[in-house]
Amino acid sequence: MFQIQITILLLETQLSMVSALFTVEVPQQLYTAEYGSNVTMECRFPVNGSVDLGLLSVFWEQKRQGSSKSKEVYTFRNGKALHPSQHPDYIGRASLLHNELMLGRAIIQITNVKITDAGSYLCLIDYQGVDYKYIALEVRASYKRINTQVMRIPSEDKFVFMCQSKGFPLAEIFWQNENFNLSGSANTTHTLTADGLYNVTSILTFKPNTSENYTCVFWNKELNEETSAHFSTLGDDFNSQTEALYLSTVTTSRDSGSVDP
Ligand SMILES: *[C@@H]1O[C@H](CO)[C@@H](O)[C@H](O)[C@H]1NC(C)=O
Ligand SMILES: *[C@@H]1O[C@H](CO)[C@@H](O)[C@H](O)[C@H]1NC(C)=O
Ligand SMILES: *[C@@H]1O[C@H](CO)[C@@H](O)[C@H](O)[C@H]1NC(C)=O
Ligand SMILES: *[C@@H]1O[C@H](CO)[C@@H](O)[C@H](O)[C@H]1NC(C)=O
Ligand SMILES: *[C@@H]1O[C@H](CO)[C@@H](O)[C@H](O)[C@H]1NC(C)=O
Ligand SMILES: *[C@@H]1O[C@H](CO)[C@@H](O)[C@H](O)[C@H]1NC(C)=O
Ligand SMILES: *[C@@H]1O[C@H](CO)[C@@H](O)[C@H](O)[C@H]1NC(C)=O
Repeated sequence: MFQIQITILLLETQLSMVSALFTVEVPQQLYTAEYGSNVTMECRFPVNGSVDLGLLSVFWEQKRQGSSKSKEVYTFRNGKALHPSQHPDYIGRASLLHNELMLGRAIIQITNVKITDAGSYLCLIDYQGVDYKYIALEVRASYKRINTQVMRIPSEDKFVFMCQSKGFPLAEIFWQNENFNLSGSANTTHTLTADGLYNVTSILTFKPNTSENYTCVFWNKELNEETSAHFSTLGDDFNSQTEALYLSTVTTSRDSGSVDP
């Protein structure tokens, strides 16, 4: 049904091309949102004085990369929000900031951003003329919280350190102590959660040398962000299971990716 609307509107566009110079503009073409946050994306359209909402229609739809189907995010037709054909993924999470319409700004707000929200957004505006633009949304999730676990295998005189965290995209895991890069002896695996996040688990089994302090580093390459957790083999209680000495989780990042208007 939505496809039909678009087709009709595009026909209208062609018809009205000669008569009106109606163009939709985007102040920002690429948005980057953190998983679970709220994002607003904006398209602008020309208004002359006050806006007659009864003549205004705004459509937002989303298409994931590599997907041929688009999802209806939000439909506002002749001054009214229309929900019947809204895609279930966006129910209760997408809204159009109505006050902004008066200023010629069609701003969509999506709350509690999911990995599947990433993709290309089309905003199509019909206000005595029709035009549309595309906006790209990237979604990222920091490996914020690293869960750690320490075990000891007394019979083999070995330690087992485990780090586990969730994020997006897939992180690389490094292990190190004061002297050595131990990544080669770690076993790192990942699964995909229902939310589309990577659940990464890395297990380091080793015989301690002189080093006491060990670190696992989650490197989220695309965010250029590192989070780490620290372990210590020090403990008086060498014969029993040692609790993880969870010293800190350090996050470093550099701004990247977003394009300023
Ligand atoms: C996102 O928006 C919702 C609804 O407006 C609000 O309740 C929530 O606090 C916002 N979350 C963040 C992280 O800003
Ligand atoms: C804007 O509206 C005024 C008064 O309604 C009209 O005189 C003017 O021609 C309009 N300008 C454009 C660009 O449509
Ligand atoms: C550590 O070793 C792994 C492979 O064993 C390598 O991929 C990684 O780049 C090394 N890291 C550093 C910081 O040298
Ligand atoms: C790594 O861990 C996975 C899952 O725990 C296991 O199936 C696999 O055999 C391990 N690989 C190595 C090289 O130890
Ligand atoms: C992530 O992986 C860990 C260890 O492999 C598992 O215990 C945990 O339940 C997983 N969490 C999710 C949300 O899949
Ligand atoms: C112990 O030392 C050897 C070299 O002397 C090194 O290859 C190995 O990675 C070290 N292991 C740990 C856990 O530090
Ligand atoms: C290990 O870390 C602790 C606390 O950060 C520090 O006091 C200690 O000197 C470190 N040990 C080595 C061998 O660097």
